[in-house]
Amino acid sequence: MKQRIENHPILDIPLRRKIKFYYNDKVIFGLEGDTIASALHASGITQLSKSIKLHRPRGFYCAIGNCSSCFMRVDGKPNVKTCVERLREDMVVESQDGRGSIK
Ligand code: FES
Repeated sequence: MKQRIENHPILDIPLRRKIKFYYNDKVIFGLEGDTIASALHASGITQLSKSIKLHRPRGFYCAIGNCSSCFMRVDGKPNVKTCVERLREDMVVESQDGRGSIK
């Protein structure tokens, strides 16, 4: 599912370099300047983690680093706020089920 604006009748949409990263062992491509969460959303992945107590699905909520809805494990580090963490080439992103743990 493609969720990006590529053409606009009034605004110029600049070309951005593709960035490869890994999400739960799958190769995904984001664009330069994306956060991890925005790149995942653009690829159709909206569930980022599960809640600690009831394991309910969690995704983008505040998108400014003020909640815990987008916590994911990034390059082995748990509880990274992916809505404010910039995407980097070859980073490894994993969803969390409840509390984060170090691998
Ligand atoms: S969505 Fe709230 S901190 Fe990321």
